[in-house]
Amino acid sequence: MPITPSPIVILTGAGVSKESGLDTFRDKDGIWAQVDLEDVATPEAFRRDPERVHAFYNHRRRGLLDPAVEPNAAHRALARLEREWPAPVMTVTQNIDDLHERGGSKRVLHMHGELLKARCGACGDTSPQRDDLSVSTRCTACGQVGAMRPDIVWFGEIPMGMDEIEAALAAAGMFIAIGTSGTVYPAAGFVGLARQIGGVRTVELNLEPSDGAALFHESRHGPATEVVPAFMEELLDGVESLP
Ligand code: APR
Repeated sequence: MPITPSPIVILTGAGVSKESGLDTFRDKDGIWAQVDLEDVATPEAFRRDPERVHAFYNHRRRGLLDPAVEPNAAHRALARLEREWPAPVMTVTQNIDDLHERGGSKRVLHMHGELLKARCGACGDTSPQRDDLSVSTRCTACGQVGAMRPDIVWFGEIPMGMDEIEAALAAAGMFIAIGTSGTVYPAAGFVGLARQIGGVRTVELNLEPSDGAALFHESRHGPATEVVPAFMEELLDGVESLP
């Protein structure tokens, strides 16, 4: 069935990076089964024990920088869609890794921030961060020591780029959620927002039905490295060639 190309909004979660070797959060072997998020992923935790929070993210940053961790076929398939789809494609990710960018995607919005960036709590400056952070890290902009934090959105904080995301959802003809459990808002509410706007085709590509599976018009279940390339191939095969 030929598909009239309209803008696409993609939402990804930890499942898209699982086959690259990065843990998800809520699978039985996930991150929140190993550590309590209240101890490492809230502003209160950072005020209470900043070194513990730094140690948690320093471990994950080192893991992400392991040469064995590379973009997988799902990341590459999304970059191909962005290149070849004849309308805008925006990848909104809940992930703090850089695998979408390393897989070739150009238009990526990290609504929960980025592990390879740091932010100064004193002056607000953000900067690339590949080494460990600690309470003795100095801000390269204002020189303050002890105010640096990961440039990551913690529970209880406002996700990034919400205005841009809502505008993209309002203009989209298709919303595709990939590798997310659909349990954390506002991301879990994007499918409802997309459907509210009307006429939007909503698709879930996930290992298994997410908490919000019933809200999607279609779903394909299986590993992201299988279901994502297959679905992108189908989309690109079906697109009417523009005059
Ligand atoms: N392929 C596709 N999907 C997979 C795969 C895979 N190989 N492995 C796991 N999944 C699915 C799981 O079935 C689950 O539905 O990915 C989803 C991962 O869900 P979560 O672990 O809850 O991760 P996510 O949805 O990204 O969490 C959202 O919660 O803790 C916060 O800030 C954190 O961004 C995160 C947010």
